Amino acid sequence: MRIYQEADYEAMSRRAANLISAEVIRNPACVLGLATGSTPVGTYRQLAAWNQRGDFSFREVRTVNLDEYKGLAPTHDQSYRYFMQENLFDHIDIDVANTNVPDGLAADPAVECRRYDALVRSLGYADLQLLGLGRNGHIGFNEPCDRFVKETHVVDLTDSTIDANARFFATRDDVPRQALTMGIGCIMSARRVLLIASGSDKTDAVYNAFCGPITPQCPASILQLHNDVVLVGDKAALRKLVEAGVPVCE
Ligand code: GLP
Repeated sequence: MRIYQEADYEAMSRRAANLISAEVIRNPACVLGLATGSTPVGTYRQLAAWNQRGDFSFREVRTVNLDEYKGLAPTHDQSYRYFMQENLFDHIDIDVANTNVPDGLAADPAVECRRYDALVRSLGYADLQLLGLGRNGHIGFNEPCDRFVKETHVVDLTDSTIDANARFFATRDDVPRQALTMGIGCIMSARRVLLIASGSDKTDAVYNAFCGPITPQCPASILQLHNDVVLVGDKAALRKLVEAGVPVCE
């Protein structure tokens, strides 16, 4: 595992964008696993700027997003499809037909989960999977629970996740209570995982994920078993890890 400690959010975003663009340059038809949340916004902004400058192209890239809120239409301004269009896809030369997000409106969510698993498998899994980190250690929407769920599934969001995501909605009551999320199996099948974390409210989650026991109570802890993980964090997010003596690159 490689850990990059960056000074702040901007530097973290630039480093992450650098690693993603290197993947696209090396393999122009790569499969990128993409994440939502506030953490990757700066990474996407940087990628779009480099793409618009002509440094590399997304024309052949295929993408698979981690998750989607159940019940939100792609046009809902808090859906993850909408987020991806607004923050990345509308600003780069990707073919939108090559981008995939679970369908939050699927009539039968269980069927949609099976379709999504088959799709990700048929693409050969992500060459590089970008991940954010929930304060409770969740990845995608794999919430703390008593087992690691391998497949794409419908999940009940925890109170702490609903609280954390309420800032994006008019009221807490508007936050969907369920989501469709890629399972731990798909995430662990990615060739490389790139986890980004910023801010002091992530320092415990980062520490628990990489220094704590491997347990479904901290879903990100499974990444300790992946053989190609890169963690990029700012000083605030990595503070506890660094204090514990874990070596980092600067
Ligand atoms: C959300 C998403 C995750 C994301 C996490 C952290 O609930 N489903 O993919 O990593 O929460 O979000 P943020 O980056 O805003 O802290």
